[in-house]
Amino acid sequence: MKDIIIELITNAAELDTATVADILEIPPRPEMGDYAFPCFQLAKTLRKAPPLIAAELAEKIGSADILDHLEVKGAYLNFFLKKELFVKSMIEQASVEQFGSSAIGEGKTICIDYSSPNVAKNFHVGHLRTTIIGNSLYKIFSKLGYKVERINHLGDWGTQFGKLIVAYKAWGSKEAVEKDGVAELMRLYVRFHEEAEKDDSLNDQAREWFSQMEKGNPEALEIWQWFVDISLKEYKGTYALLGMEFDHYLGESFYRDKTADVVKRISDAGLLKESQGAQIVDLEEYGMAPCLITKKDGSSIYATRDLAAIFYRKERWNFEKCLYVTGQEQKLHFAQVFKVVELLGNEWAKDSLVHIPYGLVSLEGAKLSTRSGNIIYAEDILLEAIEKVKKIMEEKNPDLPDREAVARLVGVGAIIFHDLYNQRIKDVSFQWDKVLNFDGETGPYVQYTYCRCASILRTVSFDPAAEIDHSLLLDSEAIALLREISRFPEAVLDAAEKYEPSVIARFAMEVAQAFSRFYNACRVNVEDDALRNARVRLVSLTATTLKDALALLGIGCPEQM
Ligand code: ARG
Repeated sequence: MKDIIIELITNAAELDTATVADILEIPPRPEMGDYAFPCFQLAKTLRKAPPLIAAELAEKIGSADILDHLEVKGAYLNFFLKKELFVKSMIEQASVEQFGSSAIGEGKTICIDYSSPNVAKNFHVGHLRTTIIGNSLYKIFSKLGYKVERINHLGDWGTQFGKLIVAYKAWGSKEAVEKDGVAELMRLYVRFHEEAEKDDSLNDQAREWFSQMEKGNPEALEIWQWFVDISLKEYKGTYALLGMEFDHYLGESFYRDKTADVVKRISDAGLLKESQGAQIVDLEEYGMAPCLITKKDGSSIYATRDLAAIFYRKERWNFEKCLYVTGQEQKLHFAQVFKVVELLGNEWAKDSLVHIPYGLVSLEGAKLSTRSGNIIYAEDILLEAIEKVKKIMEEKNPDLPDREAVARLVGVGAIIFHDLYNQRIKDVSFQWDKVLNFDGETGPYVQYTYCRCASILRTVSFDPAAEIDHSLLLDSEAIALLREISRFPEAVLDAAEKYEPSVIARFAMEVAQAFSRFYNACRVNVEDDALRNARVRLVSLTATTLKDALALLGIGCPEQM
């Protein structure tokens, strides 16, 4: 149907199909038409007022088989389709396998650098956000046919490890680290800073240990590797709870033998400058602070390793884009690094390297049982959500099978959904009653809607192969539901274009709410076979769409809850 409308406009307006397809919209409300063509953009080229263009187009198009009527409203030309045909086309569109996916990414690779916690530090709520957003972008781009490389750029190198080795040797024990893991490593780190206040020579020792690490001293590397393994084991526990994975763990340490080459490239290009003993790239011309490349003592830093990582990834995967999901506070860092890559003669840096920032998480509303020292671990939040869901289920549905598994899907899903429901740049505040409200705009509500559909499909008898009589689905609630469902492919594209999973979360919520209105208005389990089959088909399309949309967010669906 959409294609026919595009063709009608293309012929009448003497425009090319791609432009028309780009401009054509699905209006937010049905009284504004099934499709709308805004004429603002054409005003410039045609040198006419938009309402006049709309009127002239309407006249030229006149009538067509699929059209009930046309309407000119200001600058908009609104198309009202014959309802039955519209229903038919939407059902056909939504019934295809892989509804929502496309092939626009075929043959192209996208690298996503996300999560990337810092070894020997806790996996905190900020890392939870990058993990959730990055994972959803991975699903969204995969749905569009891209090959996606999920990269965990662990913070596993840097002077802090020199400090940790000093602290471990002075005040730590193997048993304590093995027993308490990251928590103990953090204690040692804090202890180091307390003691170094009093005794500055500790700082020299720490520098020396890190320089030993850079030189490949086996003792230093062995202790460091052990810290990495212990930390990684904990992070992987959190990923397992989330049901998320990576294709590559390539931390900062991976690039330690590749930074010299970066320094050489920069120097060969005549971009390396000395500043107070350090080496920098001057970015004043671009309104930025200089990008630090090596410290006074010659050691590389975060930015140097990021530069090495970009060249490594470009070489290995020849990415179309490389996305970085981190907090907003790293905006300048990435702007500097990307600029340096561009200045080295890589035009692609401009479009290919994208920083995807997100807002802060505040936990004011949510009392958490924290481990020692009031440090918040993402894992504790997830576990607490699961516990709370279990309690709710014990009250509401004590006989539910697979309670553990369902509680995990719902508890974790609630947190993911809450995180992704608003634009990522907005801050997230955390209140349990909001996150877990089964009637609110929450993950559990969408999952519950899916379960209602699944239960209908289990209990109502119907013929899945029946030819559907489309004239039986003309109730306004049925049409409204179909309209929402049919937006899925556009929502996926839009989410990818804006790197914005919230588009999908909103979409899922709107489908769920439209389903609820449909279900209240139209009984499904009716006597009449044809009507029942038609309505059940709608239920089944709702179920698959909700499940697929939630999957794009990284949320699983129980069949019962
Ligand atoms: N480890 C960093 C942090 O926790 C994030 C790393 C992001 N990725 C990168 N390539 N710099 O803040």
